[in-house]
Amino acid sequence: MREEDFIFENPENKILDNGFVKVKSPSNIALVKYWGKSEPQIPKNASISFTLYNCFTSTILEYTKKENASKKPNIKVIFEGEEKEAFKPKIEQFFERILIYVPFISDYDYIIKTENSFPHSSGIASSASGMSALALGIMSLEKKLNPDMSEKYFLSKSSFLSRLGSGSAARSIEGPVVVWGKHPKIENSSDLFGTVFPFKIHPIFENYQDTILLVDQGEKQVSSTVGHNLMLDHPYAKNRFIQANQNLERLTEVLQTGELKEFIQIVESEALALHAMMMTSSPYFILMKPNTLKIINKIWDYRKKTNLNICFTLDAGANVHVLFPKDEKREIDTFISNELISFCQNNKYICDSLGEGAEMVI
Ligand code: PMV
Repeated sequence: MREEDFIFENPENKILDNGFVKVKSPSNIALVKYWGKSEPQIPKNASISFTLYNCFTSTILEYTKKENASKKPNIKVIFEGEEKEAFKPKIEQFFERILIYVPFISDYDYIIKTENSFPHSSGIASSASGMSALALGIMSLEKKLNPDMSEKYFLSKSSFLSRLGSGSAARSIEGPVVVWGKHPKIENSSDLFGTVFPFKIHPIFENYQDTILLVDQGEKQVSSTVGHNLMLDHPYAKNRFIQANQNLERLTEVLQTGELKEFIQIVESEALALHAMMMTSSPYFILMKPNTLKIINKIWDYRKKTNLNICFTLDAGANVHVLFPKDEKREIDTFISNELISFCQNNKYICDSLGEGAEMVI
């Protein structure tokens, strides 16, 4: 599908009565990372992620027919019960970006009531769940205007719009494993939207666990926009994009064969490659904290000692995602409680697992 295919025509100029939609969209954790993009949010390499289950954003989008014919919708954002002026510029920018594909949005004013299932300022990126929830809300309006729309189109366009809010949000609409970015080994993969991993996944990955250790719950020191831009003239960029696409190809096999040793090697190497890009950009920066490294070393020691299939990945921050198969949960949970939780800020962590993607609640 091309960008033009996502432009909505409203020939009869239908306008909806005032109303609301309620949606829920999860976060995701990349196994092969997206870091580096060109305009408009086109990834420099393909990425693949696990969709999460417990970490999600719930959003109610209330829409009211506009009184006056001004182009710009009036938007009020209520986050966890309180009006949040600070969130408005990003959302307004998102509305401007998507206007050409969903021109009907300028017929209404909005109240956006949104909340996260995970603690505020936990250092978990809320942009993937938050932006995909908003995109899904807008697509629910389009579906009201065009009830004949196919499910496939609905999902692809929801991901397409999510991408314009935050790149990684494109991978949150569906699950449990999603690819975003054109890759020769993944049929129908696209730079424009995420697609569900098209092969049968080995049963060992069913209900795969992700325990998120909250090492640093502060604001991100470097925004991902700045980080992505630093890849534009990064000395290692070209090889990094090649490496990511090769890792995705290897992972495509591993997800089908269930070879966990190879899975661990790819996933950990990807996490460190992402952070290596940050440490070698100009200006350079470090998002890991001393406790991030302590946790990584503990995981490596424990794996060596027990031969269990525990591994880590990192997002653009200091928190550690601990990944492991469901059937090793008992032992690994004990290890996490006894040996890793003390490295978390206020001993906080979140137990998550694979999920199936976003939902329209009403
Ligand atoms: O979605 P963005 O633009 O915030 O990019 C985030 C990219 C990483 O989370 C660091 C990696 C990824 O692929 O999710």
